[in-house]
Order: sequence, then C-alpha cells, then structure tokens
Amino acid sequence: MALWGGRFAADSSSMFRQVNDSLPFDQVMATQDMQGSIIWSRALKKAGVLTADEQSQLEAALTTLKTQAENGELDFAASPEEDIHSFVEAALIEKLGDIGRKLHTGRSRNDQVATDFRLWVREHIGSLKADLIGVIRSLLNTASRHQQAILPGYTHLQRAQPIHFAHWCLAYVEMFKRDLSRLSDLKKRMNQCPLGSGALAGTTYPVDRENIAKELGFSSPCLNSLDAVSDRDFVLELLFCASTSMMHLSRMAEDLIFYNSGEAGFLQLGDSVTSGSSLMPQKKNPDALELIRGKCGRVFGSLQALLVTMKGLPLAYNKDMQEDKEGAIDTVNQWHCCLCIASEVLDSLDINEARCREAATQGYANATELADYLVGKGIPFRTGHDIAGQVVVAAINAGCAIEDLPLSALQAVCEKIDDDVYPVLQLEYGVNKRNILGGTSAETVTKALYQELENLDKL
Ligand code: ARG
Repeated sequence: MALWGGRFAADSSSMFRQVNDSLPFDQVMATQDMQGSIIWSRALKKAGVLTADEQSQLEAALTTLKTQAENGELDFAASPEEDIHSFVEAALIEKLGDIGRKLHTGRSRNDQVATDFRLWVREHIGSLKADLIGVIRSLLNTASRHQQAILPGYTHLQRAQPIHFAHWCLAYVEMFKRDLSRLSDLKKRMNQCPLGSGALAGTTYPVDRENIAKELGFSSPCLNSLDAVSDRDFVLELLFCASTSMMHLSRMAEDLIFYNSGEAGFLQLGDSVTSGSSLMPQKKNPDALELIRGKCGRVFGSLQALLVTMKGLPLAYNKDMQEDKEGAIDTVNQWHCCLCIASEVLDSLDINEARCREAATQGYANATELADYLVGKGIPFRTGHDIAGQVVVAAINAGCAIEDLPLSALQAVCEKIDDDVYPVLQLEYGVNKRNILGGTSAETVTKALYQELENLDKL
C-alpha cells in the first residue's frame, strides 16, 4: 500500500513501480531501519507523542521484526511495499493497528533513509576493516615465510634493481594501511545523525536529537536539516575508499599475474584460486587475480555514477538519490570478496626463490652499484653513470653479466676499476647496502616486518 493515499485517485502504473520501488535492494537496511524506528519511538514517547504503553508495544514489535530480519525470515519478495521504510511501517500497522500508524509522527522517509544508510555504511566500515587487516596479515605471513628471497625490482617493467620479496610485500602493506585509515577518517566524519531533520526543514515535535544520536551510536546530530537529508558524501567517500583500495588490490594482482607467468616464473598460485582451460590441458590460469583486476571497472563506475547523480541536484531530497544504493551495495560486496580472495591467493603462493634470484642477477640490475663504486673511487656520479653504461654494453656484446667480464675488459673501459669491484657486483651487496630507512636491505626489511607484525593487533 502506498504511503500517500489521500492525495491520489489513481494507482501507480506497473512500469512506474518497477522504476520507483527500492525494496528489492534497500531491504539490506532492514535491521538498521528497525533500530532507527525503535530509537525514534523512544524519542516520541519522551516528547509526549506516544504513551509508554504505545511505545513499548512498538518497541516489542520492532524487536521481533529485527530478529526475523536477522534470521532471514521476512518475505520481501512477496511484499507489495515500495521500500524498506514502508515495509516496516506496514508490518507494524498489521500487528498493532493505529499504534503502528503513529510511529511516523514528525519523521520523513528523507531523514529516515539518510539515517538508515549511514548506519549501514558504518557497520560495513567495521567488517571491511577486518577484511583489510586480513590481507595485511597474509602479506606479512607471506613475507615472513620468504625473508631471504630476492627478486628483480622493476621500473617501466624493465629490471631495475634487486629487492627483497618481503620489501614488495611491505609496499602493499603500506597501501592497505592507508586504506584502513581512510575508512577510519570516513567513520569519524560521517558519524552524525540525520534523524529529527524531518523532510527537509526540521521537525515540530520536541524530540531530543542529541539523545537520538547517542542512542544510535552517532557522535552528534547533523547540524542542518537541509544538509542532513540531502548529503550523500558518506556514500561517495565509501566508494572512493573502495575504489582506491581496489586499485591497490588490482596493482598487486597485476604484479602477481606477471610473477606467475611462464616468462617470469617467480611463483606458482595455488590450485584453489586458479582454473584450467577447457581445451588446453597444460593451462593454470590466474582467474582470481584477473577478476580482482576486472572488478575495479564496476567499482570505479559506481563512484563515477553517484558523483554524476549528485552533481546537479537542488537542495534538498530528490528521488535521484535513491540511486545511491545499488552501486554502494554492490561495491561493498565486491570489495569484501576481493579482499578475502586476495588473502587466499597470498596464502597459496609458492615462491620459487632460486628462479627469483636468477632473474635478479640477470638484466644488469647491478649497474647502479658499479656507478656508485666509481663514485667511491673519486669519479663524479654522472661520469660513473656513463662508464657503467659502457661496461653494460661491453657485457651485452660479450653475452655475459657485468661480474663475468674479466678485469682487463672492465679496465679497458675505465682503469680505475679494480679487483675490489667484484664483491660490489654480488647480488646481496647492492640490496643490503640500501639499509636506509624505507630501503630494501635485509636489516631494514626485517625490522620493518617485525614492526608491522607487532602493530597488527593495534590496527
Ligand atoms: N526509497 C527512498 C530512497 O532510497 C526513500 C526516501 C523516499 N523519500 C521520498 N520523499 N520519496 O531514497
């Protein structure tokens, strides 16, 4: 039954219903709607609108509905109601008659939906943070299992300088820690309560908005009723948090897809997160990682869609804003699944440390070390860089690594090069020399790894 019967003579068309109804998706906010209504009924009682008996009947009915919603016992599909708010109101009227008809006093679906959706977002911030911590834990465990492993670091996807594999893991830990702190910031900023703002102008009933906010776990009420009912920044911010984090997951996926390729061969992915080919028996495809990369499209799309939806809306509430939900609900689902599957992929990694080492020793990734060595011999870096470049050309022409060139060949390029160059060209030398804060040496990486493991409980 429509909530606005009095003014209308004709029914809504079925196509209008299809476009207008939000119950098929806003049912995810059922428990939040019921909780908001419980607190609203208490506020109405304190304001003298409901008797104590009426309020306790409403609260009992809402509590029962909430349990039913939690247990998946409510049949939303069979309901003729437009949205979750009218669904709950209809259920109360069916149970309590006129008492149910009193609950919406002084309230609008505009402040109601804004409150429900904030409660829903806030709850998901909690579970998404746990998912992010799960990925961080998997990265740290993977790093701990392979503390000695060294692989090539890349720029422009060209072998650049060798790095510890654990350093690579810790780089993603930094990104996911930022994602966590972005969610914490969002929670702080969005934790204000719209209820009591009415349709747009505030309510005439003397409800205690401070107390409503407190009882719903908000830190304060929203300060302007027009803004309270028409603000969807909290959804946009959630979508941005998700998009940024999905971008991080996608870059990690891309690295791992490459590391797993036949060409790199640095690692193998577990059977549980890969699939085979219907035709080619030898194939083991990195589907989980490709889907993490692929799902970025719809998540970024939802952020863009809501920005575009909001940008032209006059104050205050407009029905366009109902479009805030499907993209956000989908995004939270996808982000959650991608974080969980990313953890599974990391836990399944089988690193081929020998192959990583082999690749790190090839590709002249120690050329910077040679240039730095020449700096130590009193040669300006730019000149040293030039000489090292010539040595690389000599090695390429000889078809070997720099350290495989005889001293005579090295001295033919620069006579300042001596026997003491060979230890400098060893793989561990260049890696461990970078023991500056944030660098890739064994010492700094181990220290950072233990620090992160220690901090894990505090995240
Ligand atoms: N289903 C609506 C939404 O999600 C609830 C608010 C409806 N308000 C209204 N004035 N029609 O936005």
